[in-house]
Amino acid sequence: MTQTLLFATSNADKIKEMRGLLSEIPYLIVTPAEIGLDIEVEEPFTTFAENAAHKASVYAAAAHMPAFADDSGLIIDAMPDELGVYSARYCGYTTPYNVRFQKIAEKLAAIPAEKRTARYWCALAMHVPQTGKVYITEGSIEGKILLEPRGNNGFGYDPIFYTPEYHATMAELAPEIKAQISHRRIAAYKLAEILQEPGILG
Ligand code: IMP
Repeated sequence: MTQTLLFATSNADKIKEMRGLLSEIPYLIVTPAEIGLDIEVEEPFTTFAENAAHKASVYAAAAHMPAFADDSGLIIDAMPDELGVYSARYCGYTTPYNVRFQKIAEKLAAIPAEKRTARYWCALAMHVPQTGKVYITEGSIEGKILLEPRGNNGFGYDPIFYTPEYHATMAELAPEIKAQISHRRIAAYKLAEILQEPGILG
């Protein structure tokens, strides 16, 4: 019988992306909406891993099934306390990203380009109620912050996140390329490896 795993998110883009990334594993991934679960979970912690683990545990307890959740964000080394786990709320949840880019550009203007280092970070946490275990995987990708946005693909901070390896911002890369190199892919593949272990879901 195929085992079921709940992905604790209501974000349709994340669901589509994660189903693709985890397509090789023999589990049925369901969403809260598909099982009639409608809950809001805060992200109160200062690390991605703690926020993801908290979300996974709340959903697993509510659904009585193994659940995994993610938390991700952009870390800018020269602005250590401002984005990170607070990336989604930086300047306010509903503030357009172009306004956020301007604010970041103002803050980084005096910093030489080579020191505008940054990384995207993703933590995935899976809670298995049957065993009480929580598994955490993480992935990151290094880049530099541009003062002017470039490109129309992707979402969020992608237009100012430049990947030196590809000589492009994440928003200039084709979505398939971004999906192959992203912080989420790295964390998802590590989770897929854990899920291949026999008896992992109890
Ligand atoms: P959360 O993981 O839904 O709490 O939000 C993460 C936030 O980090 C998003 O709202 C974006 O602002 C930012 N972020 C995370 N991953 C990416 C990415 O791949 N591209 C652009 N922005 C990202």
